[in-house]
This record gives sequence, structure tokens and C-alpha cells, in this order.
Amino acid sequence: MTILEALEQRHSVRRFTDRPIDPEALSGLEEEIRAVNSESGLHAVLFRDEPEAFLAEKPHYGQFSGCRNYLAIYGKRGRAEDVGYYGQRLVLRAQQLGLNSCWVAMTYRQGKVARRDGNGGKLYIVIALGYGQSQGTAHRGKSAPDVSDLKDGDPAWYRDGIRAALMAPTAVNQQKFRFTRDGNRVSAKAGLGFLTAMDLGIVKYNFEVGAGKDSFVWAE
Ligand SMILES: Cc1cc2nc3c(=O)[nH]c(=O)nc-3n(C[C@H](O)[C@H](O)[C@H](O)COP(=O)(O)O)c2cc1C
Repeated sequence: MTILEALEQRHSVRRFTDRPIDPEALSGLEEEIRAVNSESGLHAVLFRDEPEAFLAEKPHYGQFSGCRNYLAIYGKRGRAEDVGYYGQRLVLRAQQLGLNSCWVAMTYRQGKVARRDGNGGKLYIVIALGYGQSQGTAHRGKSAPDVSDLKDGDPAWYRDGIRAALMAPTAVNQQKFRFTRDGNRVSAKAGLGFLTAMDLGIVKYNFEVGAGKDSFVWAE
């Protein structure tokens, strides 16, 4: 599965089977976690066979069921966008390895996941992982004109990037972001709201996958 296929096939999954993570998937995921941690200075930690955070033994915990694996991402203050960007890299790698996922800011048992990592990092986000009971379904949402200046005649890479950004997970599916383009310079800005900086990192990662990293540069 290519990374673009993983991006297209990823939907939030909240109900998991009890199948443990396969050894090959586990080693692939651990390798990506090591790469992300060394490149980003963030601290992503994989918890496995840990039923407490989502009450995996009970049939339902809110919308979740059977979740016993998750990532927790820690970092210094001011890193929310990077957490989104690198977290989405891990999510798409997990999808390529056959694992389903759901970003979770709120609906887990917060007392069951350490708020600090021991190196001064704070907990930014949890990402549930495992083999889904289903593959989930595509979210409904905004269209290109709602989130960008895309117009007829624009380069294909820009259209493809916006399309990929629109498929990204965002908190409560809010999709509060906006892309604009000047030649090959692309700007992406977050709207106001809950977790929009983290969402921005996620949609920027998706945009890069859709557009191709060599097609454009980010305007700062
Ligand atoms: C930063 C962030 C936080 C989220 N927090 C939660 C959460 O607490 N509980 C939950 O059930 N889903 C959560 N989600 C999942 C979103 O609801 C979901 O991504 C969105 O509805 C779009 O659906 P999709 O992921 O299937 O495309 C979160 C997503 C993001 C990106």
C-alpha cells in the first residue's frame, strides 16, 4: 500500500478486535517511531496490551470498544503543530502496516495515561491503534473552495494537495484551515478554535503526501 493509498483509506476507527499487533507491523511501527522521535525532538511512546485507558475489557467506553494499544505523544510547550505533523506520519505508517487508528484528545480515561514523560514533556495527544472491527467510513466535510483559493487552471499538484488535506482527520471534524498559493509557495493557516494548531500539522502532512513534497515550498 502506498502512502497515498493509506491516506485515502484511513478513517477513524474506534472499535477494535482483540487481535494483537503482528510482529512485522510492530517492528515497522517501532522503526517509524524511532525515526520520528529523532527527527522531531518529540517523544512518541507506544503502549501495547494496556486495557485501562479505553476500558478495553468492557463492551463500550463511549464510542470506543476493545482498544488496548495506543500512542501517546509528548513534547515541550509550543509544539502542537509538529505533534499533528509527525503524529499523522505515524498514523499513515500504521495504516500501511494494516493498523487502524483514531486521534483522541478527550474521550479516553485521562487519569490512566501519564501527563508528563519524565523529560519535561507534556502529553499532547493519544492515538488509539489496532485492528478495527471495520475500516471506518469517509467523513463528510468541506470542499476545496471552503478551505482554499483553488481555482480552475491551477496546477494538478495543488488540487491534489487540497484533496488530501480535506481527507485529514481534524478534531470534531472541524476542518478549520485555509490554503493559499502564490506560484509554488503555499501557505496554510489555522482558524480559531480547539486544537486547530495540531489539526494544521495533520493537514500539512496530508497536503505534502497529496501534492508531492518536491512540487512546492511552504511559505512562512
Ligand atoms: C486532534 C484530534 C483530536 C481528536 N479527538 C477525538 C476524541 O477525543 N474522541 C473521538 O472519538 N475522536 C476524536 N478525534 C477524531 C475526529 O473526530 C475525526 O478525525 C473526524 O471526525 C474526522 O473523521 P475521520 O478521522 O474518520 O476522517 C480527534 C481528531 C483529531 C485530529
